[in-house]
Amino acid sequence: MLLKVLVFLVLVSVVVNSQQPTFNDDVLGLIFFKAGLDDPNAKLQSWSEDDNDPCNWMGVKCDPTTYRVTELHLDGLSLSGHVGRGLLRLQFLQVLSLSNNNLTGPINSELSHIGSLKVIDLSGNSLSGLIPDDFFAQCGSLGSVSFARNNLTGQIPDSLSSCSTLVAVNFSSNQISGQLPSGIWFLRGLQSLDISGNLVEGDIPEGIGNLYDLRQIDFGNNRFSGRLPEDIGSCSQLKSLDFSENYLSGSLPDSMQRLGSCTSISLRGNSFRGQVPDWIGELTNLESLDLSANNFSGRVPFSLGNLQFLRKLDLSMNQFTGALPESMANCFNLLAMDVSQNLLTGNVPSWMFKLGVNSALISGNTLIGKMESPLLASRVSSYQSLQILDLSSNALSGEIPSNLGVLSSLILFNMSRNHLFGSIPSSIGELKTTEVIDLSDNWLNGSIPSEIGGAVSLKELSLQRNFLSGKVPTQIVNCSSLTTLILSQNNLSGSIPPAIANLSNLQYVDLSLNDLTGSLPKELANLSQLMSFNISHNHLRGELPLGGFFNTIPTSSVSGNPSLCGSVVNRSCPAVHPKPIVLNPNSSDSIGGSSPNHHRKKIVLSISALIAIGAAAFIVIGVVAVTVLNIHVRSSMSRAPATLTLSGGEDFSCSPANDPNYGKLVMFSGDADFDAGAHALLNKDCELGRGGFGVVYRTILRDGRSVAIKKLTVSSLIKSQEEFEREVKKLGKIRHHNLVALEGYYWTSSLQLLIFEFVSSGSLYKHLHDGPGRTCLSWRQRFNIILGTAKGLAYLHRMNVIHYNLKSTNILIDSSGEPKVGDFGLARLLPTLDRCILSSKIQSALGYMAPEFACKTVKITEKCDVYGFGVLVLEVITGKRPVEYMEDDVVVLSDMVRGALEDGRVEECIDGSLRSNFPAEEAIPVIKLGLICASQVPSNRPDMEEVVNILELIQCPSDGQEELE
Ligand SMILES: *[C@@H]1O[C@H](CO)[C@@H](O)[C@H](O)[C@H]1NC(C)=O
Ligand SMILES: *[C@@H]1O[C@H](CO)[C@@H](O)[C@H](O)[C@H]1NC(C)=O
Ligand SMILES: *[C@@H]1O[C@H](CO)[C@@H](O)[C@H](O)[C@H]1NC(C)=O
Ligand SMILES: *[C@@H]1O[C@H](CO)[C@@H](O)[C@H](O)[C@H]1NC(C)=O
Repeated sequence: MLLKVLVFLVLVSVVVNSQQPTFNDDVLGLIFFKAGLDDPNAKLQSWSEDDNDPCNWMGVKCDPTTYRVTELHLDGLSLSGHVGRGLLRLQFLQVLSLSNNNLTGPINSELSHIGSLKVIDLSGNSLSGLIPDDFFAQCGSLGSVSFARNNLTGQIPDSLSSCSTLVAVNFSSNQISGQLPSGIWFLRGLQSLDISGNLVEGDIPEGIGNLYDLRQIDFGNNRFSGRLPEDIGSCSQLKSLDFSENYLSGSLPDSMQRLGSCTSISLRGNSFRGQVPDWIGELTNLESLDLSANNFSGRVPFSLGNLQFLRKLDLSMNQFTGALPESMANCFNLLAMDVSQNLLTGNVPSWMFKLGVNSALISGNTLIGKMESPLLASRVSSYQSLQILDLSSNALSGEIPSNLGVLSSLILFNMSRNHLFGSIPSSIGELKTTEVIDLSDNWLNGSIPSEIGGAVSLKELSLQRNFLSGKVPTQIVNCSSLTTLILSQNNLSGSIPPAIANLSNLQYVDLSLNDLTGSLPKELANLSQLMSFNISHNHLRGELPLGGFFNTIPTSSVSGNPSLCGSVVNRSCPAVHPKPIVLNPNSSDSIGGSSPNHHRKKIVLSISALIAIGAAAFIVIGVVAVTVLNIHVRSSMSRAPATLTLSGGEDFSCSPANDPNYGKLVMFSGDADFDAGAHALLNKDCELGRGGFGVVYRTILRDGRSVAIKKLTVSSLIKSQEEFEREVKKLGKIRHHNLVALEGYYWTSSLQLLIFEFVSSGSLYKHLHDGPGRTCLSWRQRFNIILGTAKGLAYLHRMNVIHYNLKSTNILIDSSGEPKVGDFGLARLLPTLDRCILSSKIQSALGYMAPEFACKTVKITEKCDVYGFGVLVLEVITGKRPVEYMEDDVVVLSDMVRGALEDGRVEECIDGSLRSNFPAEEAIPVIKLGLICASQVPSNRPDMEEVVNILELIQCPSDGQEELE
């Protein structure tokens, strides 16, 4: 810029020196003016110092005879810089219009010295500083001046009063303060005065009545106080009067009734008081009347009905009483009416619908009666213009009219905070244009009609605090613009439709304080606009969605749902949520698939279940006779193998001498000497039970000792003989008081037998569940079983063996009541830890299977035994199976107990046959321990060592006892 000026000055001196006659003052002035500007878009390119005729330059107009510049229009060209002195050379300039640029700096006080200027428009720049005191002192022929929308400060200069040629003054939207110059009404020719949006204060001086030509006066948004000038009515040409948002008070001066030409009056936001006088009806040209936010009282004058051109009426936020006058039915042009927040009574005015208003705001009064009657009363055509209807916060009763569809242009429909009852009519779906529906705080009942999906423009739906029941209709997904969905404090039930996750504009959702059940759709995490999502105080369960808004959802938005899990609610979730295989064992046709539909719904067959069923078909239940030949086993494993021959149901008998498949029997048990040749008959009569890995028979060896022989039914999956033997030998070394000892094994490639210690009193399952004649275990016995089992498992884990298949049929009770855990570690005999096989095996142990089995990515550790143990503890204490099949329901024991614990009635779960014969101070901690062990997340479960320690603490209360939580 500086460089430009320098270049220019050099140029000027050259020009001056060369005495070129064609170079007039206008060119010089304009070039000088341009040099002070920044013209980012090169709009003034045509302004060239080589051109001695400025009349064709952009924005320049000349007098056609004198060729002198008379008008300069440079509006909205993004020019910045200062309004330079160059302009002072334009001696014939009449119009200077530089609005909507980026000009800065102060207003040049000499501008008004251009005697020819009639119009100055510097509005919409960033001019700052004071309006120069003497700006209007020699104002010549100045008629119109606008400094609107700048950053001017200080007072309006007194010199203004002396510029009697002024017709229009616009100082609006600056930061002008102080008082009006007292002589301002000397400007007799003034037609328009706009000082709105400043900080001007004090009284409005008297004398305005002298301005017979005043058409428009805007003093809005200042700090004027006192009263309206009494003589304002003398401005008989006044068309528009705006004193809104000041501190004016008093009543309306009576002279105003002479403002018969006035089309617009705004007195909004002052402290005017008293009645609105009847003469208001004489202002018959009024199109807009805004008396809102004052302290007017009394009735709305009947004479308002005379205002036939009235288009906009705002009486809101006053103290008007009584009913709206029926005369208003004559305001045929009324489009927008706001009478909200008064003390109006009476019915919903039916004329309002007849007039075809666009906007009717009547909220916050005490209207009574029904909403339906006016709607039903008038012609359909007159509804079609209604866009905004707000009748909220009144005392309306009755039902929502069923013919809502006639409101075919409705955008906002607010009936909240009334006493509406009945149900929401299905015609709500006919409101195709409606963006906001608020029916909150009424007495509505019934369900949300599925037709709501027809309201395709809906952005906000608020139905909170009613008595709505039923489900959230899935059809809501058709309201694809929905941003706000508030349904809180109703009786809604069912689950949250996953389709809601498709409402990608959702920002505010409140479903709190309902009876919603089920889990939260994971897809909700995709709602990227979400600002709040309140589902507190329902019966939702399962995992909170992960990601997006849900990572930071406040706890208060999810509280009061005891079964929700996730870090927000401080309850850990399972890696996957295991669904119990719901296969009713009593219903044979459920497998065949011939069951009726209603029944089949309950039958969820997982793939692994199908495998298990398939496998069962191949299990040979035949009789296997085992002849124990030549059992001569010395100490443990190293000796020559004992042999068995087999005969009977399976064709395993072969010549011991020359068949390579000839079976090999190994007994581990120390120095035991068995006389070979005994016949051990594995037949059905001796069957002790069957499990995932095989069938167990009882057999008496030749020495009279009973053993349990397990015939493995997974033989096709068994590892090589070498590996099998290595694993079995390892298992054979595990000896513990609470573990069933493995005594030996028998191997052929097609048949494998495991020989176990025989435990006399049968399985824990039998003691707990088998038939009416079951022995009733005492509390102490049950506790010992739990403790013993824990010790057995703890030992197994110390030996790095995972049981994999813990269940009550695998806990055997010996004659002294001690539990012995059997069947451990057999999964090691399989080539790999095939989860499919494992879970299909463990399926038979439904309810004990740790959830991580279903999840391929979670490592299976000894914690899966802890889970099974937890379930077992609950089973022992409640006497109930881990999964019970009821009439048409499946009860999962751990869920049931957990629920009871949360509800504070856990003692009701304890086996009834104990008849309160138990110490609650032991029973409840043990139940809690069981639940902790059955935690969904493996890492939340304690080690078995810890379990043993805790159980011992529970049993022997001592001073150092730890509180269990
Ligand atoms: C005004 O100037 C400022 C910087 O000086 C610039 O950021 C802004 O965009 C300009 N405004 C216009 C309307 O040109
Ligand atoms: C207006 O002026 C005030 C100080 O007088 C200054 O703080 C403000 O930034 C200015 N605003 C503009 C838009 O120039
Ligand atoms: C004053 O100027 C502002 C901004 O240019 C404009 O919006 C307003 O209508 C003008 N006032 C009058 C009374 O013309
Ligand atoms: C309105 O008038 C009432 C009395 O008529 C007075 O109590 C109240 O303060 C006034 N309110 C305002 C905002 O002037």
